[in-house]
Amino acid sequence: MRALTWHGRHDVRVDTVPDPEIANPRDAILKVTSTAICGSDLHLYDGYIPTMRAGDILGHEFMGEVVETGSKSTLKKGQRVVVPFTVSCGNCFFCKKQQYSACDNSNPSETSDASMMLMGHEMGGAFGYAHLTGGYAGGQAEYVRVPYSDVGPIVVPDHLDDDQVLFLSDILPTGWMAAENAQIEPGDTIAVWGCGPVGLFAIQSALIMGAARVIAIDHFPTRLELAKKLGAEIIHYHQANVRDALNEMTGGIGPDAVIDCVGMESHGLTIDNIADQVKAQLYLATERPHALRQAILSCRKGGRVSIPGVYGGFADKFPLGQLMEKGLTVKTGQTHVQKYTKPLLEMIEEGKVDTTFLISHHASLEAGPEMYKHWHDEQNSYTKIVLKTAMAKGAVEETRTPAQEIIHRELSNA
Ligand SMILES: NC(=O)c1ccc[n+]([C@@H]2O[C@H](COP(=O)([O-])OP(=O)(O)OC[C@H]3O[C@@H](n4cnc5c(N)ncnc54)[C@H](O)[C@@H]3O)[C@@H](O)[C@H]2O)c1
Ligand SMILES: [Zn+2]
Ligand SMILES: [Zn+2]
Repeated sequence: MRALTWHGRHDVRVDTVPDPEIANPRDAILKVTSTAICGSDLHLYDGYIPTMRAGDILGHEFMGEVVETGSKSTLKKGQRVVVPFTVSCGNCFFCKKQQYSACDNSNPSETSDASMMLMGHEMGGAFGYAHLTGGYAGGQAEYVRVPYSDVGPIVVPDHLDDDQVLFLSDILPTGWMAAENAQIEPGDTIAVWGCGPVGLFAIQSALIMGAARVIAIDHFPTRLELAKKLGAEIIHYHQANVRDALNEMTGGIGPDAVIDCVGMESHGLTIDNIADQVKAQLYLATERPHALRQAILSCRKGGRVSIPGVYGGFADKFPLGQLMEKGLTVKTGQTHVQKYTKPLLEMIEEGKVDTTFLISHHASLEAGPEMYKHWHDEQNSYTKIVLKTAMAKGAVEETRTPAQEIIHRELSNA
């Protein structure tokens, strides 16, 4: 089969690799129809996540049709399913608490031992995300093996097309959990750093959960405009001092909760970020947490800090005193995707959440390597890329999404 494979920093290829096979009774094999590139894939592309190996199959946002099932799979051939990026057994202490991304069984000891050293405990499994999380082959491929297929995948109805449900695999639940972790109360003002897909879904979720105001921060005009379209007020961080602006907008109090949807690769030319960049380039550090520092300093006293943005190790100049003295609550984590797929699918069916507005590009799996490059280099005109395999049915809709409208306008004005 054809698959997108990682070969080092900024080196993604389409390779012909062996088809996956059933390895355990609970496995299923999917014929992938749609798969997306995530902000988390950029951390792999930039080489910041350790334990990737040349030839690893990428991709943790995917869906498709069941073509083979193990004897203990509850899926049936021909079903259309979306698969959570978290590989979770469903039976362990953590899965029973619905803390699926902390699953204790899905990361075999050969790979989890290293994560034990780094994290203090073994990390759970994830698709297409380095050997630290199990080394599972990802779904940016024509076929994929899905372990624990009786727990993770959610069957989706035929009247919803791939684009409407694909993001149940990650970014939709991730934005939702990010807003949930912000513990929103009526009347709250929530500030969101980063208007990529995760930030946009966090904004949408925060408004659904009753936030009175959402303030979105980024520097890409098209992404900020999408945030505005959702109902957020915006701050372009090159055009304003973010902390001053937030104080001004909240009567000097600061936002009630802050959400970091940026993660370990903060942009910007602040002194702390330049120091982080230099260290990262010398492989002396992995984290560039400028946005998180700013979020903590901006949050009101007694407020909440939600961190869906991915970090990989130890951070420098972390504002610990500020966190403590201001009495902030922090909630974070890889998303417990399986906990959210069913309620979010219902909300998609009821039309309460919009899942397609942010898609800017469709492309074939074969175009994957060049799409990775665009996704990395041109985030103003690429807000979300969906790759279709040769097996995807039907033509992609001709009508423009809001993201495509905004990007089109921006480019024609340039
Ligand atoms: N917790 C989870 O389970 C989970 C799941 C998916 C993604 N993520 C993580 O969420 C983060 C965002 O993902 P995405 O797909 O939206 O990525 P993305 O790269 O598309 O978006 C990040 C956005 O942050 C903006 N940004 C950068 N520096 C900033 C700064 N200093 N201030 C404000 N904005 C800034 C960028 O301009 C960009 O628009 C990534 O770290 C990703 O790994 C976490
Ligand atoms: Zn993702
Ligand atoms: Zn488990």
